[in-house]
Amino acid sequence: MFSPQCLEGRVAIITGAGGDIGRAIAMRFASAGANVAMLDLDAVPTDGFDPERCLAMPCDVADPASVEACIDAVANRFGRIDILVNNAATETPLGTVCDIPFESWRKTLDVNLTGAFLICKYGVPHLGRQGGVILNIASQLGHVTTPGRAAYSASKAGLLSLTRSLALDHADQGIRAVSLSPGAVLTSRVTRQAGSEAAVIEMLAPLHPIGRIGTPEEIAATALFLVSDEASFITGTDVLADGGYTAR
Ligand SMILES: NC(=O)c1ccc[n+]([C@@H]2O[C@H](COP(=O)([O-])OP(=O)(O)OC[C@H]3O[C@@H](n4cnc5c(N)ncnc54)[C@H](O)[C@@H]3O)[C@@H](O)[C@H]2O)c1
Repeated sequence: MFSPQCLEGRVAIITGAGGDIGRAIAMRFASAGANVAMLDLDAVPTDGFDPERCLAMPCDVADPASVEACIDAVANRFGRIDILVNNAATETPLGTVCDIPFESWRKTLDVNLTGAFLICKYGVPHLGRQGGVILNIASQLGHVTTPGRAAYSASKAGLLSLTRSLALDHADQGIRAVSLSPGAVLTSRVTRQAGSEAAVIEMLAPLHPIGRIGTPEEIAATALFLVSDEASFITGTDVLADGGYTAR
């Protein structure tokens, strides 16, 4: 039975929790009973969260020292870590490999992929004490791509592969590793990129056979299932929540 309090007593770290999807995941996990540590470049607002069961910390996931300090702080505050959600991603300008500056390529890989590596490098030893779950937020564009998204797609495809390695390498410690690939989701990031909410919908909804784009809450609901014990036989794989985008 899927209990509404299925994460009671667990401690979850969510990176990029200042963004719409990260915040929705943190909210959903907290309402399922989890203690949540929300990491982002700047400390994120904690309104709506129980102050006893949340921690907001500035963290640059691409910086090993910053990640190590945050993981230590979360373990000290809550005494354990059970769930790592690698959701942080940087905004990458559109362009072919000829167009995008080398620095943009490097930053995309540093944040989107190396950031997940670092959170796992310092976080997995804590999960290993009692078992746990790693959830990497990838993208439908890690499976397929679209013109101008070389850096972003490569970073997300790398996350799919890293997920499989994590699952194999840490299964004997009772750790599951799963990725979740959203299709287009209405967030401030995509609204900013497209210019307006209406422009996002007009441009992206027709690419999804379901006829619309997703919501952060739909991604959070899938994330909750994947980190819960109801998904206990799911590891080393990806789950697409993409409204059928990749079914074409
Ligand atoms: N919105 C979509 O349509 C969509 C589709 C597929 C996948 N995704 C993925 O879902 C995740 C969340 O997307 P979103 O739309 O909420 O994006 P967002 O840009 O709103 O959130 C990402 C967050 O990551 C943070 N971040 C950036 N660099 C960081 C760093 N170095 N260290 C720590 N935090 C950093 C940002 O400050 C931001 O708050 C991302 O991984 C994104 O690639 C989103």
